[in-house]
Amino acid sequence: MSSVKILFKISGSIAAYKCAAIISKLVQSGFEVQTVATEAALRFIGPATLEGLTGKPVLTQLFEPGQMMNHIHLVKWADMTILAPATANTINRLAHGLADDLVGALFLAHDRNKPYLLAPAMNTNMYHHPATKLSLEKLQNWDVTVLPTNQGYLACGDEGPGKMLEPEAVITYIMEALEAIRSSSDQSRQILITAGGTQENIDSVRFLSNISTGHTGASLADSFIRRGVHVTYLHGMMALKPTLPCYFQSFESSSDLEAKLKQLLSKKRFDAVIHLAAVSDYIPDTLLVEKQTMPLPMNEKLTSNPKRISITLKRNPKIIKKIKSFSKNKQIKLIAFKMTAQSSADQQRQAALNLLEETHSDMVVGNDIADRKENCQYIFQIYKRSSKSHHQSARTVDNLGEILNKELFETKD
Ligand SMILES: Cc1cc2nc3c(=O)[nH]c(=O)nc-3n(C[C@H](O)[C@H](O)[C@H](O)COP(=O)(O)O)c2cc1C
Repeated sequence: MSSVKILFKISGSIAAYKCAAIISKLVQSGFEVQTVATEAALRFIGPATLEGLTGKPVLTQLFEPGQMMNHIHLVKWADMTILAPATANTINRLAHGLADDLVGALFLAHDRNKPYLLAPAMNTNMYHHPATKLSLEKLQNWDVTVLPTNQGYLACGDEGPGKMLEPEAVITYIMEALEAIRSSSDQSRQILITAGGTQENIDSVRFLSNISTGHTGASLADSFIRRGVHVTYLHGMMALKPTLPCYFQSFESSSDLEAKLKQLLSKKRFDAVIHLAAVSDYIPDTLLVEKQTMPLPMNEKLTSNPKRISITLKRNPKIIKKIKSFSKNKQIKLIAFKMTAQSSADQQRQAALNLLEETHSDMVVGNDIADRKENCQYIFQIYKRSSKSHHQSARTVDNLGEILNKELFETKD
């Protein structure tokens, strides 16, 4: 699989240090990054940092012997471009179509079918100046995605808008832009991971949930991203997120999770779903207060006056049983997780095999809460539908990712 190629342009702002964090994450995630910097940018961030992070020399000059046609080659090479930080000067130059340096020439030669993102970074007055405002409007009309800025303390001591977004937020925009390209044409390996707990509302401020942290899901997502797999991460509100860039969406209740799964799976072709989300087995049904029964959830807040209340819960149908039916890819593989509590090896095995049958999943990963060790050592048992008598074991989440990756993408059943 060829990696995604990103043309990363940097202009001369104090926020240039933030681009090092962004580039580092992109490279760790398997993306190929080529940096292009204005002369002023190199006063804020050194060529050694940029070359060290990307493994490629930073380009600045338009008239570089042997590289004269970079302004054309690079736009063809790149899947997308980002300019971060974008100074007032560069924004105004681009909006006037000036091509007297490599950043400007590359902009005029840019293929407008590919995403071009721009993250402004400047003092509030520069950001509010009519020249800058007009230029940003012009660039937006030319299909440039202008990212918002943060409000806050600026290097000049002023407070207000114009502060460049933090690296994580810029990465989210990059992933969204890439997601749009991929969903139309992708032959690459794609998996959907669900993680974290559902929140089932009782009233407008209270809900039922569980202790799922999303830790295994987030680490497993990182493990797949490191192996060049594209991950879509669907997570509970309190769940941890992967440290490496991927496309993610959050869910609240189990019905919200089901709706989002249906929407994602029917729209886009995934090779596998790894369903780690801890979905409530029971959801609030009715509330009994002073002999009066009310349906749940309530839209308003329940008062704290009644001395005693009763809440009844009803069984929640299992989402996992419907996952394959939502999928556009009828060959999709489904991996379920079975957490047991203080069970014997035999009981764990039986619970995993029962889940394989009940859910029509292709693999079940079993682990017992008693086997979780403080230094992130687990014992995962991996059972396959195609060979139930045999199972594999993993002791870390990364080891589990390695085994699942092999089973999904390298083993022919
Ligand atoms: C310390 C310092 C910080 C600066 N920070 C910014 C900034 O955040 N945003 C901006 O638009 N210009 C900033 N400037 C001004 C630009 O560096 C200047 O306009 C330069 O010509 C921009 O060149 P370029 O757009 O080709 O990179 C700063 C200048 C200095 C000396």
